[in-house]
Amino acid sequence: MKNRNILVTGGAGYIGSHTVILLIKSGYNIIIFDNFSNSSRESVKRVEKLVDTSITVVEGDIRKREDLQKVFISYKIDSVIHFAGLKAVGESVEKPLKYYDNNVYGTINLCQVMAEHDCKSIIFSSSATVYGDPKTTPIDESFSTSATNPYGKSKLFIEEILRDVYFSDTSWKIVLLRYFNPIGAHASGTIGEDPTGIPNNLMPFISQTAIGKRKYLSIFGNDYDTHDGTGVRDYIHVVDLAKGHVKALDKIHTFNKIMTINLGTGEGYSVLDVVKAFEKVTGKKVPYKIEARRAGDIATCYADPSYAKKVLDWKSEKTLEEMCADTWYWQSQNPNGYQSH
Ligand code: NAD
Ligand code: UFG
Repeated sequence: MKNRNILVTGGAGYIGSHTVILLIKSGYNIIIFDNFSNSSRESVKRVEKLVDTSITVVEGDIRKREDLQKVFISYKIDSVIHFAGLKAVGESVEKPLKYYDNNVYGTINLCQVMAEHDCKSIIFSSSATVYGDPKTTPIDESFSTSATNPYGKSKLFIEEILRDVYFSDTSWKIVLLRYFNPIGAHASGTIGEDPTGIPNNLMPFISQTAIGKRKYLSIFGNDYDTHDGTGVRDYIHVVDLAKGHVKALDKIHTFNKIMTINLGTGEGYSVLDVVKAFEKVTGKKVPYKIEARRAGDIATCYADPSYAKKVLDWKSEKTLEEMCADTWYWQSQNPNGYQSH
């Protein structure tokens, strides 16, 4: 079943680039489809170096039928791994239509073109954000869903749309992967997360502070009901996350229902736990200040990952220390991300 053509939308991005490496190593033929709105060709070049082969890259937008048609006409695509999307929560509140257009309309367009070419197999990048503010933790896939911002709603809407697509035609094979908090980088230090501007997320902010690009980390609240008052999350190494996609793709044709699967470690760490682990592993100081809570944040979010173990035979392997070490290696080798070279 390997040797299949896999279209990877958003394959030049953070999670996509790490996943493409493992897919190629597993024997899949990859076509990256990306409009480079939040990534660069440099990431693909580096992936090519790591896998020692050239990769087919199509520059295109999932909202443009003609861009997608070209790919589906040129290649017989077996399955799509659909990473392409915008992901900045704050920006989504300012520009909701941009998010619904890109994420929701883009996905509808993609599925329509897929169906026209009789490609009915898709793995979708969903998020733990769809659990809203969960009543208890760990969170399993049966928990109720909700969203408070357009980014989160776009993920929920897409999940619902894909469920309807499946119920209208059960020959579709659909896997909804709900990621918890991906961090870390490839052990080579040559690819990693490269946020534009000031990072929104914790780990890139920590590593940019450690390298001196930011003066200090603002910790958003220390009065949550957690072991030290700071927010608790389930940080997962991006390479573990990537492995989850390979497992899902290996099995996708065997599933006889639409699958919704958490990809997390099952461990919750606070902001201060992460700062301490980072300092210990790297020997770098991360100055911080406690500030007000960030609007929309919740106290605690971590996965029950047992369903992924059961149906994908997947579980995360890397420790928080490894996540910090790999993030730091990437950051220190590439202080300005992909622009360094
Ligand atoms: P990323 O921004 O690094 O990658 C997304 C890629 O999609 C980029 O290369 C971007 O250029 C491309 N893209 C965006 N819109 C496109 C369009 N209209 N047409 C073609 N390409 C387009 O983000 P990432 O962290 O790798 O996230 C990948 C997916 O996982 C996203 O859908 C994101 O919402 C989801 N996700 C991410 C996280 C996280 O914390 N990183 C958590 C949960 C879910
Ligand atoms: N935090 C800080 N300071 C910062 C950044 C974050 O204290 O500068 C804290 C937050 O308050 C939170 C924790 O660090 O307690 C993690 O925050 P992130 O922004 O890194 O991650 P979130 O859990 O808020 O959200 C992320 C993505 C969402 C995604 C979600 C679940 O941004 O898009 O993980 O996958 F939906």
